Amino acid sequence: MQFPSTLSVFRLNTGASIPALGLGVYQMPANNLTHRAIDQALKYGYRHIDTAAIYHNEEVVGKALVTSLIPRDHVFLTTKLWNSDHGYDKAIKACHASLARLGTDYVDLYLIHWPVQGKRKETWRALETLFEEGKCRAIGVSNYMHRHLEELLGHCKVPPAVNQIELHPYIYASRSATVDLCRSEGIIPVSYSPLTKGIKLKDPALIRMASRYRKTTAQLLIRWALQQGFAVIPKSSIISRIKENMEVFDYEINAADMAVLNAMDEYLVTGWDPTDAL
Ligand SMILES: NC(=O)c1ccc[n+]([C@@H]2O[C@H](COP(=O)([O-])OP(=O)(O)OC[C@H]3O[C@@H](n4cnc5c(N)ncnc54)[C@H](OP(=O)(O)O)[C@@H]3O)[C@@H](O)[C@H]2O)c1
Repeated sequence: MQFPSTLSVFRLNTGASIPALGLGVYQMPANNLTHRAIDQALKYGYRHIDTAAIYHNEEVVGKALVTSLIPRDHVFLTTKLWNSDHGYDKAIKACHASLARLGTDYVDLYLIHWPVQGKRKETWRALETLFEEGKCRAIGVSNYMHRHLEELLGHCKVPPAVNQIELHPYIYASRSATVDLCRSEGIIPVSYSPLTKGIKLKDPALIRMASRYRKTTAQLLIRWALQQGFAVIPKSSIISRIKENMEVFDYEINAADMAVLNAMDEYLVTGWDPTDAL
């Protein structure tokens, strides 16, 4: 797989590369505007798209990839298995259905979207089969906290390549045990909702720090995630913001400011919190 040299990549435990920055497409409807936004992202140089069956936009993602004329193996494509598709047979079927909607015969990364109680072990076996068959070039999890990861690491044959969880300075410290376990096991953390869904982009402390780097608060949060070693998948439907969000490879946050950002935790969870999920 080849990516533009401007984009940094992380190495997965499969040996494959994952572009460190991707476009998240949650809540982007399956319409022409989304097609245009993805097309423009690819023109700007994004080579990593994060979708999911439950986002109901896999078809438009697949079409945008085809019409971009970028070779399939130059774009890193992630999708996710939804909660109602847990169980061995259902998971295999769900992956095939996602592939059909995406119009591709493999995804670069297939994730269990949520750690559904009582089903996730069997589902992981299905993902291992899909991995062995080459339908998924890498497999991983999402919303797995420390306890879910420990359980998985105790029974898996193929370890997860990534764990996609909510990560930004306002929740980071509370997630440190999970992040540390990922790091020690060679699992790449992927930061979702890295912009706090927009909630904190006007935080005065963030604005002051960003302005010292002549960057926006969105660019500061994305750069923070990259410097933490997290792949990061900010979402925007607005083309100027899609461009803005990738202009993060030309500066570095200094160690003192990283420490300030690392200490900003206020347990802000913008979506569902998997911490107590059994
Ligand atoms: N695995 C999971 O359970 C899970 C959960 C949540 C998210 N995710 C993934 O992570 C991706 C990102 O997370 P997210 O969509 O929740 O939130 P996010 O990326 O933190 O924030 C997206 C919000 O910020 C706005 N925004 C984007 N860039 C901006 C900029 N430069 N300036 C100002 N506002 C900006 C967007 O509005 P506009 O679109 O109007 O620009 C949108 O309202 C998702 O799309 C999805 O792929 C995964």
